[in-house]
Amino acid sequence: GRVAVLLGGESAEREVSLQSGQAILEALQKVSVDAFAMDIGANAIEMLEKERPDHAFIALHGGAGEDGRMQALLGYLGIPFTGSGVNASAHAMDKLRCKYLWRGMGLSTPEFAVLEADSDWEQVIGELGGAVMVKPASEGSSIGMAPANSAAELKAAYENAAQYDRCVIAERLITGAEYTIAVLSDEVLPPIKLETDNQFYDYDAKYISEETRYLCPCGLAGDREEELKQLAKQAFDSLDCKDWGRVDVMADEEGNFYLLEVNTVPGMTSHSLVPMAAKAAGKDFEHLVAQILYSSLV
Ligand code: DAL
Ligand code: MG
Repeated sequence: GRVAVLLGGESAEREVSLQSGQAILEALQKVSVDAFAMDIGANAIEMLEKERPDHAFIALHGGAGEDGRMQALLGYLGIPFTGSGVNASAHAMDKLRCKYLWRGMGLSTPEFAVLEADSDWEQVIGELGGAVMVKPASEGSSIGMAPANSAAELKAAYENAAQYDRCVIAERLITGAEYTIAVLSDEVLPPIKLETDNQFYDYDAKYISEETRYLCPCGLAGDREEELKQLAKQAFDSLDCKDWGRVDVMADEEGNFYLLEVNTVPGMTSHSLVPMAAKAAGKDFEHLVAQILYSSLV
């Protein structure tokens, strides 16, 4: 059947999605899938009804493409699609609800506070150990994020993040290594360790800088790597994710792991991490894309 690669969209991650979608489209065409691209805008419903693809490969990052709304629309139209369903997509997009869920399940995630315009900045930063990362709860690609080391910085970071989301959180800053783990249904791919000279693994380090270092194998001892992979799989399963995803984790100086978030439509650009982990597991990009598509058919 005909596969529509849904890309672009109207979120802050539009540019990343155009790159992911183009790479996915080319890979599908290379393995002889009858695939075409659909740039999703305000007229998505009309376009989908007119084109009536047999299947949709969702390459939309952020906003309505990743948070369950597109998944609901496709379900409503009876068009099967890749990746997580409505509920898992909505949960994964909300970093605050993920933290509530993980805390309830006893899965480790950094301590946090919900910020409001009238928060007591001094108290919040004090309670979180003096250094935090401020995040819009429902953005991606580090958009709107900033570290803060003082009450004044925290207030400024909140005001910036609040432009992106009405819900803003501050997390205790975890200062050890950062890892990311790709999950393909029941298969957990080798973890990647991320190293950047930027203040943190920000938009520049993710998509622009040539200086970011990606280590795979990640350098952990076998049992520690196994522990990290298990935590990633637990996080993926806790939200009832499907087909594929990528779990971001930080370690503190003592080596304790903390869940940051689950991405249900991870980046698939030339800089991206899921393709890198797949390669380490012996799967080239076309194999990876085909595997995601086929896992969504069963
Ligand atoms: N949100 C970006 C695309 C990622 O997680 O890779
Ligand atoms: Mg994300």
